[in-house]
Amino acid sequence: MAAVSSEADGRTRALADGNEIPLVGLGVWQVPDGRECEEAVAWALEAGYRHIDTAQAYGNERSVGKALRDSGLPREDVFITTKFYPARQDPEAEAQRSLERLGVDSLDLYIVHWPQGGPTWAWDGMQRAHERGYARSIGVSNFSASELDAVFAIADVHPVVNQIQFSPFEYRRGLLDACDGRRVAVEAYSPLGTGRHLGDAQVADIAERVGRTPAQVLIRWAVQRDLIVLPKSTHRERIEQNAQVFDFELSEADVATLDGLDRTNGTDRALESLWW
Ligand SMILES: NC(=O)c1ccc[n+]([C@@H]2O[C@H](COP(=O)([O-])OP(=O)(O)OC[C@H]3O[C@@H](n4cnc5c(N)ncnc54)[C@H](OP(=O)(O)O)[C@@H]3O)[C@@H](O)[C@H]2O)c1
Repeated sequence: MAAVSSEADGRTRALADGNEIPLVGLGVWQVPDGRECEEAVAWALEAGYRHIDTAQAYGNERSVGKALRDSGLPREDVFITTKFYPARQDPEAEAQRSLERLGVDSLDLYIVHWPQGGPTWAWDGMQRAHERGYARSIGVSNFSASELDAVFAIADVHPVVNQIQFSPFEYRRGLLDACDGRRVAVEAYSPLGTGRHLGDAQVADIAERVGRTPAQVLIRWAVQRDLIVLPKSTHRERIEQNAQVFDFELSEADVATLDGLDRTNGTDRALESLWW
């Protein structure tokens, strides 16, 4: 299988702290530790991805680290995110454990996975992880606009990312505006609705007309919204396909049609129901 064009490598944006992040990253939620995860990450790196999104809660940091080492790529060429599991107590200590499992000296991005126990208690430990050099950038995930405000009110080092459920069907305009206003980059998780959005008739219509797949249309929508986007797949051809989104453009009319699929009423909340 031919590798994705090197264009995928060059697609980055600068975070508010100056660090560069590739726009498309491979997500590995629900990918079992071991061969399946190692292969998915290896295929992604071969296909030109330079950004992998894992988490302490996913239990697969070791496989991500192994695939990264086996790839032979220089460490600084690949952007690695992991997430603090907020059922634990100490973000600094947990960052050290993540570094050991991943086999790297520092994380590119370390984010609070969700605001369990309130939005602010973990931030001091996140800042310590940053100060000690365990993480080059720090951020949050699943934080609403008001939860983000609470962190900004107490932070010395501001979060530079909010990773949230985001797609045309979850087009959280209020939260996106709140993030933009604070120079917090939005990372779109579940951009394919964990697969659920791929069968939508309007997405399929657009895909057929532009000669792409529904997955590529949904990922391209996020890229045109200047978001960082984290599709997940464990299939090689899909991993490759999901990165091939820089050689076509959706028209304004198609973007508007996709915008109209929103079911959140443009909310500034991160989730409709909490899982913690
Ligand atoms: N911060 C958080 O709380 C949070 C929560 C959820 C997700 N995330 C992050 O976001 C990432 C992505 O979200 P997600 O895992 O919910 O799923 P997603 O990327 O929205 O969708 C993945 C699903 O779509 C299928 N798929 C992927 N590409 C496809 C293609 N080209 N054609 C057909 N089917 C395709 C996958 O199947 P196969 O794998 O079988 O190919 C899988 O079933 C996660 O892995 C994780 O890194 C973060």
